[in-house]
Amino acid sequence: MSIQTETTTDTAPYVGRPVERLDGPAKVSGQARFAAENHYPDMAYAALVHATIARGRIAAIDTAAACAVPDVIAVLTHENAPAMIPAPKLSLLDLSTVASATSVNYLATDEVHWNGQPVAVVVAETWETARHAASLVDLSYEELPAVVDFAAEAPNAVPERSMPLMPSKADKGKAAQALADAPFSVDLQFSTPPHNHNAIEPHATTAVWDGDQLTLHEPAQNIPWLRKHLAKRFGIPEEAVRIISPFVGGAFGGKSRAWPGVLIAAMAARATGRPVRLALTRAGVYHTVGGRTPSTQRVALGADAQGKLTALIHTSVSRTGRVGGMAEPITAASRHLYAVPNIHLSQRSVELDLLSNTFMRAPGEAIGTFALESAVDELAWRMGMDPIALRMLNEPDRDPAGGQRFTHRMLREAYTRGAENFGWHQRDPRAGARRDGPWLVGMGVATAYHPSMRMPASVTLRLHADGTVVMRCGMHEMGMGSATVQAQIVADEMGVPLASVHVEYGDSDLPPSAGAIGSVQTASVAAGVIAASTMLKRSLLTLARRAPGSPLRGRKLEDLQARDSGLHHPDGGQTYAEILSAAGRDHLEAAFKPSMLGFVARMAIDSRRWVTGASGAQFCEVRVNADTGEIRVSRWLGVFDVGTVINPRTAASQLRGGIIMGIGAALSEQTLIDGRTGRIMNPSLSEYHVPVHADIPHIDVDWLNEPDPTTPLGMHGIGEVGITGVAAAVANAIRHATGKRVVDLPITLDKLL
Ligand code: MOS
Repeated sequence: MSIQTETTTDTAPYVGRPVERLDGPAKVSGQARFAAENHYPDMAYAALVHATIARGRIAAIDTAAACAVPDVIAVLTHENAPAMIPAPKLSLLDLSTVASATSVNYLATDEVHWNGQPVAVVVAETWETARHAASLVDLSYEELPAVVDFAAEAPNAVPERSMPLMPSKADKGKAAQALADAPFSVDLQFSTPPHNHNAIEPHATTAVWDGDQLTLHEPAQNIPWLRKHLAKRFGIPEEAVRIISPFVGGAFGGKSRAWPGVLIAAMAARATGRPVRLALTRAGVYHTVGGRTPSTQRVALGADAQGKLTALIHTSVSRTGRVGGMAEPITAASRHLYAVPNIHLSQRSVELDLLSNTFMRAPGEAIGTFALESAVDELAWRMGMDPIALRMLNEPDRDPAGGQRFTHRMLREAYTRGAENFGWHQRDPRAGARRDGPWLVGMGVATAYHPSMRMPASVTLRLHADGTVVMRCGMHEMGMGSATVQAQIVADEMGVPLASVHVEYGDSDLPPSAGAIGSVQTASVAAGVIAASTMLKRSLLTLARRAPGSPLRGRKLEDLQARDSGLHHPDGGQTYAEILSAAGRDHLEAAFKPSMLGFVARMAIDSRRWVTGASGAQFCEVRVNADTGEIRVSRWLGVFDVGTVINPRTAASQLRGGIIMGIGAALSEQTLIDGRTGRIMNPSLSEYHVPVHADIPHIDVDWLNEPDPTTPLGMHGIGEVGITGVAAAVANAIRHATGKRVVDLPITLDKLL
């Protein structure tokens, strides 16, 4: 994708300005082509057949009726499909393995590992034909005993390994003893349900083979990982895989791995010799793309008579699939939030005969902060303290679990500003004290936290003689404004108008980006932009200094300013156009390619020296109908400490989106799984309730905008911090409105009656 800015009147600096999304016009005018909107002349359409048992073997598969449907091209099953190379085992040294979603070799095995696993694919001349024929494939099974009931299995959980880079364990002092000795304490059990991904764009793949070259139109959050993975599965070099992904209709973690759809689409295209489009139905996404783990959690807190915390225990049980999935760092945020001398954090998990769990916006922290921040609030009730005062009192100076210093920590400031702007001091501290007609009105707060990380990203910058700068990086635009914010940074670093910057992204032919995962992409790519700009300006200066009579002769880059499309010194300077023309060049290019090894080494060193994260204070007002229990979020304010905000317009949207998703988790979202069959019972937006406009009031977001000294331009990633703490803020507001503490998500009205 290539986009040029339309803004011609603006001047630098652009960072910090609410620049409009550069991809906006393409989207609102219908020019944007999503993966399922790419046409090829002889394209065929695919539909999946899903297993309807949780575990067993296919005894027989009858495709005669499906094959007999006119315009069916092929029906591929484990009896006739060309086998893919099996999924590689997870190794952090091999990124192709990290994209592996499950260990199942689809359509190469008669084994069934989850209810919904694809067991056949129909390829036909139209999508309707493919779907109809898929419904005619007749399967019989030899069923095997399956374990699918999380609540029943949770007592058998075993200790879990931390997710890489996100430690979730801690043992400091004697937490159990300190809890027993504490004059004030709470000890609560929480539960959260599974969640499924519901991006507005369901997963879809358009796959085209040209000999051994594979081209895919695919919504991807991590093009480099997916590319490596596909190359391995189809036995072709990485260079033979092209992934084109300029527009992604939302992702949230669900598009960061190779789920069955993309693999089977590529296989079906190869087997039939036709370009194939496989667009999943909404139910198809539930069946083939993992979601958030359910959890049970215990949080116990002990405090002295003044409210100083003496003990913190946070443990969790979550689940993975037997065929894949990972520990979600549920207790990770509890390492960083409160100054407590005695801490115990640990996680356990069970393996079930269900599809793998996967990343979903703040995996771990989104639900872990629900439990922790609900418990902190409950302790405040028990002590008769204001919940903000309790948090202020226990705000740490150093990382409570690891002892490192914080690079940046302004939670106190966030709470102070939030309390003032939300009107916290008008809050009557008694539960159920405020009533407006039938509505009980309550206010609650909770802390948001997400670690701040970066991954290597390669960036090329090319300066043309006409003054334009082309930035090339295969980054991911899922609707959050990736191209826009990077264009702002390029314009500032190079000192050129925003309108002169072109950004190319969303394509594996471009230099590999960091994934749009873990809130790392913006800062990671910005680091690449800054490095590449420095290289480019250095090359320009070298060129200039060679030219006789250049006012830049004898100058060092450090003494120069990049502005007005040139390099300048108080005593004179030259435009880029002048430098290039004097040197007889029509362009100059710089390519920054970070080494993975150096990057990892630096990260390991930094993590011992300091802890860095984005944080915030969530303020919620709810109205609970005293007669019906109906719950309405009526006001929201989130004040965030996310370092430098590059673009207030796109940042506000990211943070609001996180809060809205958190309100969904608090009040309505849950995947219902039949405990007998492992079948998802509500795989549709009509029965799996994400918030709609009527559920969401105006959401105020605010930030402190203080740069972090250790990150590119002082920024933190903001894709995930917004959802953290949200469910707790809602639960805490409901506690204030009604006097009832609800510990099981979602908080539906039946739990208040
Ligand atoms: Mo995120 S859950 O890494 O998209």
